[in-house]
Amino acid sequence: MPTTNPTDTDLSAQAREILLKNDRGGYTVPTHGLYPYQWNWDSAFVALGFAAFDSDRAWTEIETLFQGQWTNGMVPHILFRVNDPGYFPGPSVWQCDPARSGAAMPTSGITQPPVAASCVRELWEQEGCRRDHPRMKALFPKLMAYSRWYRRHRDPMGNGLAMVVHNWETGRDNNPEWDEALAAVDTSRVGPYTRKDTSHVNSAMRPTKQEYDRYVALVEFGRAQGWDPAVIARENPFRVIDVGITMMLLRADRDLLVLAHALNEQEAIAELQAHIARAEAGVAFLWDESIGGFSSYDLRACKSAQILSSASFLSFYAGVGDERQRATQLLQLQRVSQDCRYLLPSLAPGSRTYDPMRYWRGPVWLVVSYMVAKGLREAGHHEWAHRIQEDSRNLIRTAGFYESFNPETGAGTGGPDFSWTAAMWLHWCGA
Ligand code: GLC
Repeated sequence: MPTTNPTDTDLSAQAREILLKNDRGGYTVPTHGLYPYQWNWDSAFVALGFAAFDSDRAWTEIETLFQGQWTNGMVPHILFRVNDPGYFPGPSVWQCDPARSGAAMPTSGITQPPVAASCVRELWEQEGCRRDHPRMKALFPKLMAYSRWYRRHRDPMGNGLAMVVHNWETGRDNNPEWDEALAAVDTSRVGPYTRKDTSHVNSAMRPTKQEYDRYVALVEFGRAQGWDPAVIARENPFRVIDVGITMMLLRADRDLLVLAHALNEQEAIAELQAHIARAEAGVAFLWDESIGGFSSYDLRACKSAQILSSASFLSFYAGVGDERQRATQLLQLQRVSQDCRYLLPSLAPGSRTYDPMRYWRGPVWLVVSYMVAKGLREAGHHEWAHRIQEDSRNLIRTAGFYESFNPETGAGTGGPDFSWTAAMWLHWCGA
């Protein structure tokens, strides 16, 4: 039989099937095999995908995510609802029991980008912005507690910038922004362990063994502190201001403020306005003239990572940057677009450590593309927003629903049948 390219209608059907196939009953795994649990920011984006055909199921995805929330407000990066021996590091390595955390199940001990509030705002707006929306109303205090947790434990300079204590928290696991800070992490006490990721995916696309040892050393450090957020914030061997989370948290607070107004939550309104004002002023600290963009910052070494990554462009999504900074960022975008075929690569192709195949060192990740494009559109840069959207569409049309994509060839990288890629097709870039 002759093979024909799938039409966009076929792709929409496939995207729905992927979400349904990865649904484990109220929560969705990122992809079968490689990631067998519920992940924090994956679930938030997946909810947007479900909203295209089942709004009830969309809200459920966020509600199940918040079943993993700790008493202190943190939403963990992984919720271990089952014990799957095919994944490392699993619940026995993290040792975060419900008795200690207050979560409904064992979880990891770190968090991820706090995009849930922004996704809840989207779901709520799609349903007509009702002030008495019961599910939005029930989630609101939980979302506030999560934002407060960040502001309380992850704002060491008190200026609204967000600190991470593990590169996995950033969601952009092996971006070179973390290389120097990770190189300072002592791995001499890391015991033997068996990775599982490389048995699911080609190891040329995954982090190296040396990188992985450092990731494990950081888990062991947190575990030894009983996951006490105050001790970790002070003493963790990896303490970095993540430009990505800083921008996403600021955006989440802006979106929460809209919800707070709808609910007439006066105290929350005042609190969020203060957070937003602090962060708006604080982000200037992350501007790095030498790269012409916003960059992450190593708090231990007191230096900028000097890396232009896709997260640098989230400044538009956060609504920050003065006129000159915005113009410079657009020039950088122009340069990046000349250096590769598909926007938006996770790392600028001219960078020394750029690798179009290796995870967050080059490949395109549609969830970041979506946020950057949304920010650009809101700032009036419609052509750039359109270009990123069109490239995203073409990547899926060419390769299917991969975890990420090679920005030069358009080939799929990482795992196939990926939930958040399917969700981005349904919510944003599908025709
Ligand atoms: C990888 C990604 C992370 C994502 C997770 C599950 O670790 O780097 O961002 O949340 O996979 O898809």
